[in-house]
Amino acid sequence: MTSSAPYVDLDLFDEASLKNPFADYRRLRDAGALVRLARPDVYAVGRFADVQAALRSPNKLISGEGVGFSDVFNAPKGMNVIQSDGELHNRLRLTVMRPLAPATISKARDDLKVMVAARVDALKGKGWFDAMQELASFLPVQAISHLVGLPEVGRERMLAWAAATFNLIGPNQDPADLRAAMEVRDFIMELAEDSVRDGSWAGELFAATRSGKLSEVEARAAISAYLIPSLDTTILAKGHLLRNLTVNVEQWEAVKAQPDLARAAVIESVRLHSVLRWFSRVAAEDYEVDGAVLPKGARLMVLYGCANRDERRYEDPDRFVVTRDAKDQLSWGTGAHMCAGVHLARLEMEVLVEALIEADAKFEAGEPELGVNAGLHGFTKLPLRIV
Ligand code: HEM
Repeated sequence: MTSSAPYVDLDLFDEASLKNPFADYRRLRDAGALVRLARPDVYAVGRFADVQAALRSPNKLISGEGVGFSDVFNAPKGMNVIQSDGELHNRLRLTVMRPLAPATISKARDDLKVMVAARVDALKGKGWFDAMQELASFLPVQAISHLVGLPEVGRERMLAWAAATFNLIGPNQDPADLRAAMEVRDFIMELAEDSVRDGSWAGELFAATRSGKLSEVEARAAISAYLIPSLDTTILAKGHLLRNLTVNVEQWEAVKAQPDLARAAVIESVRLHSVLRWFSRVAAEDYEVDGAVLPKGARLMVLYGCANRDERRYEDPDRFVVTRDAKDQLSWGTGAHMCAGVHLARLEMEVLVEALIEADAKFEAGEPELGVNAGLHGFTKLPLRIV
C-alpha cells in the first residue's frame, strides 16, 4: 500500500525560518516521513532514519542532476565531485581525498594545535572580541589556504565566494551572489602551476597533470572542491562550538575536567547545529519512504539539520550534552558523498577545544548575530571574552 506525501505549508527560506529553523523542522518531521513543501514545490525528508537512508541510496537518489534548487548552482555538471554519480564520482572523489585521508591530515595536528594555542593565548584577557573574526576564521583562512596553496588574492576573496555559492543553492538568486560565483570560476580557470605554492594540494594536482595522471579539468575540479566547501562550513561550525561551550557552563566544566571528552563535544556540537542545512537529490526511480512514494524524476530536499534534532533518534535533542553518543549524526552526510573534509574539519575543532582546555579558559558570551544564507546556518558575529 502506498500513500501520498502530506503537503506542508512551510517556507524554509523565509528569513525568520533561516534564522531559527528548529520549530519548522519539528513540524516537518511530525507531518510525515516524506512530505511535500509549499515553497519551493519539492519533496523533503527530515526524520533521522529517512535522511540517513536517502543519503545511503546513491543509485536511486542521484546527485548528478545537481544538489541545489537553482539552475545556476546545478549547472556546472560533469567534473564536480559533489554533483556527480557512479564511476565519475568515484574517480573525482579519489583525487579530492588524496590529501584529506585521516593519516595524512593527522600529520598536521601538531602544527594546527600550536597555531591555535598561540591565538587563544593572544585573545585571553584581551576583553571582548568577535570570535567569528578572530578565532573561528583563524585556522581555515590561515592554515587551510596555505595547505591548498592559493595565491593571496584568492585568499582575500575566499570567504565571500563560499558564502555566495552556498546562498545560490536555494531557490532565490541574488545578482551579487551570481557575480561572486563567476568570479570564483574565473579565478580557478586562471590558476596555473606557477601561481600556486609548490608541494601544496593545488601544486600536487598541477604536477599530476604534467605527468599525465590527471586532466587539467579534473585538477581544477578538485581545487574548487577544496576552495568552496572547506571554509565557511568549518568557520560557522567553530562559532557554534564556541557558543555551545560558553552558554552551557556545566558542559564546558565537564570537558575541562575530562579532556578526552573534547572529541565528543565537537561531534555533539555539529549534531546540534548542522552548518550545512540541506542538499537535494533527484529520484532515478520511484523511491519509497515509509509507504509514501517519491516519483521518478522528482527532487528531494534532504535536511541534515532537521534529522540531527529528531526526537525519534536522540533523547532531548535540543540540548547540548557532551557525554551523548552522537557518532552517527548526519552533519557531514553519510554514504557515498559523505564530506571529504570531515577529518580536517574535526581536527580543526578538536585542537581548538584542546587549546581552550589547556588555557583553562572561562568564557563570557554576548548575543550572537545570525547570518541569512540559504545553504548555511551560522553566526556572522559572536562576541566573546576569555578570562
Ligand atoms: C564543519 C565543516 C563541514 C561540514 C559541516 C561539511 C558538510 C558536508 C556535507 C553535509 C557533505 C555531503 C554532501 C552530500 O551529501 O551531497 C559534504 C561534502 C563534501 N565536503 Fe564537506 N563539510 C565540512 C568541511 C569540509 C572541508 C574542510 C572540506 C575540504 C577540505 C570539505 C569538502 C567536501 C567535499 C569535497 C564534499 C563532496 C564529497 C562528495 O561528493 O563525495 N568539507 N560536506
